[in-house]
Amino acid sequence: MQFERISHPAPVPGKTRAEAIANPGFGTLFTDHMVTIDWSEDKEWHNAQLAPRGPLTLDPAASVLHYAQEIFEGLKAYRLEDGTMALFRPRENAARFNRSADRLAMPNLPEDAFVAALEALVDADKDWFPTVEGGSLYLRPFMIATEAFLGVRPAKEYKFILIASPAGNYFKSGAPAVSIWVSDYTRAAPGGTGAAKCGGNYAASLVPTREAFDRGHDQVLFLDAAEHRYIEELGGMNLFFVFDDGRILTPPLTGTILPGITRDSIIDLAREEGLDVVEEMYTLDQWREDAASGKLLETFACGTAAVVTPVGKVAGHDGEFTIGSGGPGQLTSKLREKLTGIQRGTAEDTRGWVMRLG
Ligand code: PLP
Ligand code: COI
Repeated sequence: MQFERISHPAPVPGKTRAEAIANPGFGTLFTDHMVTIDWSEDKEWHNAQLAPRGPLTLDPAASVLHYAQEIFEGLKAYRLEDGTMALFRPRENAARFNRSADRLAMPNLPEDAFVAALEALVDADKDWFPTVEGGSLYLRPFMIATEAFLGVRPAKEYKFILIASPAGNYFKSGAPAVSIWVSDYTRAAPGGTGAAKCGGNYAASLVPTREAFDRGHDQVLFLDAAEHRYIEELGGMNLFFVFDDGRILTPPLTGTILPGITRDSIIDLAREEGLDVVEEMYTLDQWREDAASGKLLETFACGTAAVVTPVGKVAGHDGEFTIGSGGPGQLTSKLREKLTGIQRGTAEDTRGWVMRLG
């Protein structure tokens, strides 16, 4: 796909940018450019642009504003040791984007176009790569229904957009391990949209997330919709449980949780470590019991934004419990290092996960 390139007439001055990228936090700082591609029934994908980042003009009747026909992705660009910019498994994000599109009755974007958009934006805005330790350029591709129509049916016009945000640590607290709140609310039910990365799932998670924050926790945990016993995932991360017998468990992909690309990568890396990785249902009661007996050694959350983050404390309406010593566990740290080593080019990439740019 060919992008029309419209460079920024007044990019953020170098000094302001340098200050911002020294301490970017997560999700509040944005680069100079964005990519947009339009879709209509007659032209399909057209009008691909790399242009100055700026507000969108939408008709107030645009379907996305009424029926939330929207999907998104999240992935990071890294700077390798030799200075080359690289993406981690971007085709997995492209494929998941299209699975989300299918579930939300939206058009598929060819994987090559998805990757070309990432390459174009990272190349244009590489000077925004954060200088903070462990920083990355967080990339947010998304698609919205733009057709002005209030009837409830799949829209006939869409816009794909890609923005970039220099990112440091996702969790503000900087604590060595996060604390999670077990919600009474349900995130996703069988047959619903839990496996799709659509904005609606996150909208439904906001009241429980606020409840978690108000109680002093970092993330919310959702249980299954039917029995409210089985652990599913966090608001924006998958979970792993490490046992004293060399087993490591993660909830299975039954359609109600997001199939994380970090989750998939960790499964591979843990198997390489000789661990017995199982994808099985696990109840909150069993987790509490295993943590108390010492059978459960560690729990960690993983995702693009969170990388690999230890869970130290779990609280819910029936009380709270601590995992291990409440701090980062050995295996959690080891897997985190293995993963980030590959992503940043300090460890060998034997699986072809790293796509070098430029
Ligand atoms: N689960 C949810 C609900 C998420 O939002 C994310 C983040 O993208 C993940 C899991 C982890 O997915 P990934 O590892 O692909 O970033
Ligand atoms: C990610 O890890 O990329 C996510 O999308 C999680 C959250 C920021 C929504």
